Amino acid sequence: MFEPEKFIQKQIRDIREQIGDGKAVIAASGGVDSTVCAVLMHHAVGDRLVAVFIDDGLMREGEAEQVINFFEERNMNARVVDAADEFFDALKGINEPEEKRKAFRNTFYSVLARVVREENANYLVQGTIAADVLETVKGIKTQHNILEQIGIDPESYGLTIVEPLREIYKDEVREVARSLGLPPEFSERPPFPGPGLATRVLGKVTPERVEIERRATKIVEAETSDIAAFQSMAVLMNDKATGIRDGKRAYGYIIVVRLVKSVNAITAEAVNVPWDVLKRIDKRITTEIPEVVHVLYSLTDKPPATIEFQ
Ligand code: XMP
Repeated sequence: MFEPEKFIQKQIRDIREQIGDGKAVIAASGGVDSTVCAVLMHHAVGDRLVAVFIDDGLMREGEAEQVINFFEERNMNARVVDAADEFFDALKGINEPEEKRKAFRNTFYSVLARVVREENANYLVQGTIAADVLETVKGIKTQHNILEQIGIDPESYGLTIVEPLREIYKDEVREVARSLGLPPEFSERPPFPGPGLATRVLGKVTPERVEIERRATKIVEAETSDIAAFQSMAVLMNDKATGIRDGKRAYGYIIVVRLVKSVNAITAEAVNVPWDVLKRIDKRITTEIPEVVHVLYSLTDKPPATIEFQ
């Protein structure tokens, strides 16, 4: 049986041994994996860890503030790097999902490399978990946090990678999070893809389209917060639909609402969301986001669908 307390003590010892008096950087997104890593590292090396929130312009509303407040409350060394323009420039004109991932990943690592240089760090901490390694080895999807796969040799940057969670699975990471005393908004946080809302904007990822997606996401998350789901999302379609606004034909955006149950994201089942909840989401989205004229619900399990649309 997995024993989180023992795991924590062992990791703290191992990290101290590996890092000595070196300096480490972690890109912390607020996800349970990177947050647990950051807190473990802080226990092990204190201020010699810098937790960096890279604001890529693709996060949900209020996410940067929530994550930084959490670190500051714990007196951790944390900073926000505003890189939204760089990410939007890199994503400009790209439609193809894996191309988007590639552009995101390249920008992510170029921003991170800059931060590592600025901080004079010699260790880069990554929240890689066992499932990331497995899915990448199987070639199911390129996860942005697997350096070897994208041909980056950290040593050529004078960097050593630290991956405290590489051996454990998500449910165990959550046990560690609870043992470390993380509040439920972090320990129980649903997965959110590394490339953020870019994963849920089909077609071109522009600031305007991401903002529509962000507002729809906020509504879907708020209206489904008491429904048990592994993930709950809004997705902005690439096509537009004919609708009616102010008595005239209007060509507007389409939002798909998707809630899935899953244990490990390998398979997933569409959630049977009550009709009145769906109608409330529909009403709110089409009223509060006038650019949207049509809301759909996604019925398909994984497989044959995936959880995200791209
Ligand atoms: P799919 O869409 O493949 O998603 O069924 C499985 C799980 O992985 C998440 N996901 C990602 N996470 N970078 C990530 O860090 C990505 O590019 C990415 N794509 C999908 C997805 O949210 C789900 O939990």
